[in-house]
Amino acid sequence: MTKDEVKKLWMDSPESLQFLNNATKFYNLMMMYRCAIREIQTKLEVLDDEFSVENNRNPISFIKTRIKKPNSIYNKLQKMGHDFTTENIQTYLNDVAGVRIVCAFIDDIYMISDLITQQDDIKVIEIKDYIKNPKPNGYRSYHMIVEIPVFFAKGKTPMRVELQIRTNGMDFWATLEHQLRYKKGIEEMPGYDEISEELLHSARAIIEADNEMQRIKDKIGMFHEI
Ligand code: GTP
Ligand code: MG
Repeated sequence: MTKDEVKKLWMDSPESLQFLNNATKFYNLMMMYRCAIREIQTKLEVLDDEFSVENNRNPISFIKTRIKKPNSIYNKLQKMGHDFTTENIQTYLNDVAGVRIVCAFIDDIYMISDLITQQDDIKVIEIKDYIKNPKPNGYRSYHMIVEIPVFFAKGKTPMRVELQIRTNGMDFWATLEHQLRYKKGIEEMPGYDEISEELLHSARAIIEADNEMQRIKDKIGMFHEI
């Protein structure tokens, strides 16, 4: 059989049609998550713009977005014991669409999360406050899973998005910790416990700095109100 004959046989097979059909469905779903991210990002930019006109400063330093990579989606579903289907992605995963909002001060985080929660098209599915309750390793951030309706030609579809809201300090620590901890085999490294202790120590220093900046801001705020 020639290469072309094999190709034709594959293209005509039910398996290949099924494969192409699934791939199309998957890329369609990823497009829908990208749109959900755009909707949320616009809402955040609107809030930041409005605040900066009224208060002469931006509560949001920057926003980063990401779509979970296909292999991470596959691995997560596999770990949960589910097949890699578009239905399972939508049912079981909350973090396919991710938005990280990096704020200037700790109280900006709560202001942004309150303003997002108050918007009546947004449904809050879950909140994890790792600022009031940091993880044992020192990780801090305010996590929200929200559902936002996106209007497509076929109709309105609620899409879930994970929001991670943090200060510049929290982001600095989490980004470096992620880079260090995800080095292959680090957990077996001699002195790993010491490294974890040092990371926790650096997290505490950043908590102090965040709290100090918040205190300074409150002081200046009070001065302005007089
Ligand atoms: P995942 O299965 O990882 O999504 O965990 P989860 O569903 O329990 O969610 P959680 O809200 O605890 O964490 C979600 C995301 O927050 C992770 O994917 C990371 O991006 C971030 N995160 C959580 N814990 C840590 C941490 O210890 N260090 C860093 N650098 N990031 C973290
Ligand atoms: Mg995750």
